[in-house]
Amino acid sequence: MPQEHNRAKKYIINEGEFSPVLCELGVQTKDGHIAAPMYDKFRQINRFLEFIDDIASKDDAEEFKIIDFGCGKSYLTFLVYEYFMKRGRRVRIVGLDLKRAVIEKCRDIAARHGFDGLSFEVGDIKDYSPAFKPDMVISLHACDTATDFAIYNAISWGARYILAIPCCQHELNLQVKKSGRLLSSYGLLRERFLALSTDAIRAKLLEYSDYDVSVMEFIDMEHSPKNIMIRAKKRARPRSDEKKALLLDEAEDFLKQYGVTQTLHTLITKHE
Ligand SMILES: C[S@@+](CC[C@H](N)C(=O)[O-])C[C@H]1O[C@@H](n2cnc3c(N)ncnc32)[C@H](O)[C@@H]1O
Repeated sequence: MPQEHNRAKKYIINEGEFSPVLCELGVQTKDGHIAAPMYDKFRQINRFLEFIDDIASKDDAEEFKIIDFGCGKSYLTFLVYEYFMKRGRRVRIVGLDLKRAVIEKCRDIAARHGFDGLSFEVGDIKDYSPAFKPDMVISLHACDTATDFAIYNAISWGARYILAIPCCQHELNLQVKKSGRLLSSYGLLRERFLALSTDAIRAKLLEYSDYDVSVMEFIDMEHSPKNIMIRAKKRARPRSDEKKALLLDEAEDFLKQYGVTQTLHTLITKHE
C-alpha cells in the first residue's frame, strides 16, 4: 500500500491529464488544471483510487461489480468507473443516494458519456436490495450510521472487498454521559474517543464476520479531518468459533462498559 511520502508519484489521475468527466463535475478546468476549491476532493479521490488499484491489480475478475453507498455527486463513482474503463476491464457500478436531484444529474452525465456499466439509484442504504452480488462495496463519507448499514449490507451479501471511510459518528456520543470517566469528561476528547471507538468496533465486527481488516490513514488531516479508511477483505476460510467469540466479546465489552448500543453490532447480532 502506498505511503504518504511517495503519494505524489503514485497518483492514479495526474494533474494536467484531462478527464471530460472531471471537467463536467467541476473538479478540473478545461485546460486540465484542478479547480482550486476542488483540490481536496481531487486528492481524496486519487487516494481512494490507489486503494482500488491495489485490489484490482491483484484480482482478475472478468467483471468487477461495485456498489457505492452514499455516492452524492459521485466524483468517486465516475472516477472508479473511468479507472476500469481505461484499463479495458469490464465493470458494473451502482451509485446509491437519498438525494433524487443529485442522482438524476449523475444519470444524465453517465448517459451523455455512454457509460453503460454505470447506473445510479435513489434510495436508502438500509433498504437497498441489489440487482447483483457486489464484489466490492465502497462508501466515502456516508453520514453517521449510514456507514454501518453499508458495511452490514456488504457483509450479508458476501462482498469480497469493503472500503469504507466513515464520516461523522454521532451514535455513541449521543449515548455516553458527559462525565464519570476520564475520556468522557471533556467534549472534544469524548467526541474523538467515541468516533475512534466506533471505528474500532466496526473493524472488530468485520473480523468477526470473517474479513481481514486494516484501519489506516486515508489522507492528511489538512485535506480532510475524516481520514480513516476501514479496508476489509473476505477471508478464504472462516475463523474458528472460539476466535469469533473472542472478537465479539472485545466489541461487546466496550458496549457494556459504556452502556451503549452500536448500529453495526445490533444489525449483526439481531440477524444471527
Ligand atoms: C458527505 S456526502 C459524501 C458524498 C460522496 N460519497 C463524496 O464523498 O463526495 C454523504 C452522502 O451520503 C448520502 N447518504 C446519507 N445517508 C444515506 C442513506 N441512508 N442512504 C443513502 N444515501 C445516504 C447523503 O445524501 C450524501 O449525499
